[in-house]
Amino acid sequence: MKGKIIEIAKTLSLEETALSIIEFNEQNLSDYRKSHILQVSYFSYHLAVRENQENDDLHKKSFLAAMLHDCTKERKPQFHYDLFKKHGVEEKYSGFPVPVLHSKSAGLFAQDQFSIRDPEIDEAISCHTTGKIDMSDLAQILYAADYLGSLEFEAAQSSFNENDLSSLCLEKVKKSMTHLVKANHTIHPDTFEYYNSLAGKS
Ligand SMILES: [Fe+2]
Ligand SMILES: [Fe+2]
Repeated sequence: MKGKIIEIAKTLSLEETALSIIEFNEQNLSDYRKSHILQVSYFSYHLAVRENQENDDLHKKSFLAAMLHDCTKERKPQFHYDLFKKHGVEEKYSGFPVPVLHSKSAGLFAQDQFSIRDPEIDEAISCHTTGKIDMSDLAQILYAADYLGSLEFEAAQSSFNENDLSSLCLEKVKKSMTHLVKANHTIHPDTFEYYNSLAGKS
């Protein structure tokens, strides 16, 4: 998968950036997380191309958002709180459940570590865990790609082939809510609202 990702990065003229993110991820994340990120990046790029073949900007941002989306996922809660404080957003994110914190800190970390600062990429990363109503195309692509990146590659490829973007997003939000209920965890209001906005439409 790493070879495929470097090929995509070359196509997008993002080889240098991709290599520095891959190197960082290789040194800082578990094997599971590293392969998840590569698979999410693969599908995020291909979803973007399928959504709009002409939009190079969407292709690049979908790829970069995916490469970065879980870069803080394995950090302790205090790491996220320190980053929020440094960027002056500690109040905005106080009280968020621990599993959601990485989606709020990854964009900030990308600014500090890779000098990647893009409001659309930030927004997409920020809602990749909870979902949100009226997500941008980019945010929906990352949300769906994150789901495809959680499956075995062949199952993910079949799901990609058989479902459009909104079906994949609905599938992810359903699975995510089911998982949270089974684990006796709370469900973020953004997730409920997002589910309600999609349910019954397909
Ligand atoms: Fe995540
Ligand atoms: Fe992820």
